[in-house]
Amino acid sequence: MAKLPHPIPYQGSKRSLAPLIAPYVPREKVDTWYEPFAGSAAMTLWAAHHKIAERYVIGDVLEPIADLWRAIIERPRDTSARYSQIWNGQLSSDESYFNTVRDRYNEHRDPVDLLYLICRCVKNAVRFNAKSGKFTQSRDKRRLGMKPDRMADAITGASMLLNGKTEVVTGDWMKTLSPAGKADFIYMDPPYLGTTVGKDKRYVEGLQQDLLIKGLEDLRRRQIRFALSYDGMTGGKEYGPPLPDTLGLTRLLLHAGKSSQATLVGRDEDTVESLYITPDLGEARSDVIRKHVAVQEELTF
Ligand SMILES: C[S@@+](CC[C@H](N)C(=O)[O-])C[C@H]1O[C@@H](n2cnc3c(N)ncnc32)[C@H](O)[C@@H]1O
Repeated sequence: MAKLPHPIPYQGSKRSLAPLIAPYVPREKVDTWYEPFAGSAAMTLWAAHHKIAERYVIGDVLEPIADLWRAIIERPRDTSARYSQIWNGQLSSDESYFNTVRDRYNEHRDPVDLLYLICRCVKNAVRFNAKSGKFTQSRDKRRLGMKPDRMADAITGASMLLNGKTEVVTGDWMKTLSPAGKADFIYMDPPYLGTTVGKDKRYVEGLQQDLLIKGLEDLRRRQIRFALSYDGMTGGKEYGPPLPDTLGLTRLLLHAGKSSQATLVGRDEDTVESLYITPDLGEARSDVIRKHVAVQEELTF
């Protein structure tokens, strides 16, 4: 199994879980594959590599992420060359270089500046100020970010997989999904509800989950097949309330690896994520589904 390209090193990427989600993706003809919470679109890259669908739609509410995807898919050469230029610039500059690129990005919104910032920032965690829309995350002092050669390979590979058959949409997930129908498939990985910002977190969380459930009810009414990555648990402690049974979904538990947070404080704990699927996609299981040695190869993409 060749390595799959993954040009945007994004916190929360589903790259390593793709082999565990894969068995629940329909193998008969899918017209359009939707990933409306795209981020680094790891599952779409996996799906395009496996020729799962005729066409692909990736969407994100963050316009800069959607712009970056357009740059990668439609202008791979320019994007790689510009990344190389920005990355190499740091070698002959002082510590202020990251902040200079960040200021420049916040003023001009060049998506390739953003790619460099994502690669170099703490935990690859994209943070935008809710009001100003400015990129606020700071530099990780311990590493330089993905090297230009590797990035050029990843950009070229992603563009080859997606160009000519992919639409990139900026906006809310429900808007992205409005054209979806029965012959399509949706993979969803919404942001963890518990980390939603707001003064009264409980209220905002409740509201967010309500919206998610409403949207899922609508997809069920429209009889669209989907898989949804959702809440998880670490060391047996659940975070995020389960989705209501009235949605009629099958819940599976996927072993997502060791909790890095727990490891930091000296505890050895597993993280388990839920995958909710429409019932036509697979049988319920009560055990935690783990990676087998046979799929380790694919994990490295
Ligand atoms: C957990 S990340 C997805 C990561 C992705 N699965 C990957 O492999 O990189 C969630 C993404 O959803 C986006 N998002 C948050 N709220 C959204 C909304 N209401 N509609 C569409 N996208 C949203 C965020 O900007 C973020 O990129």
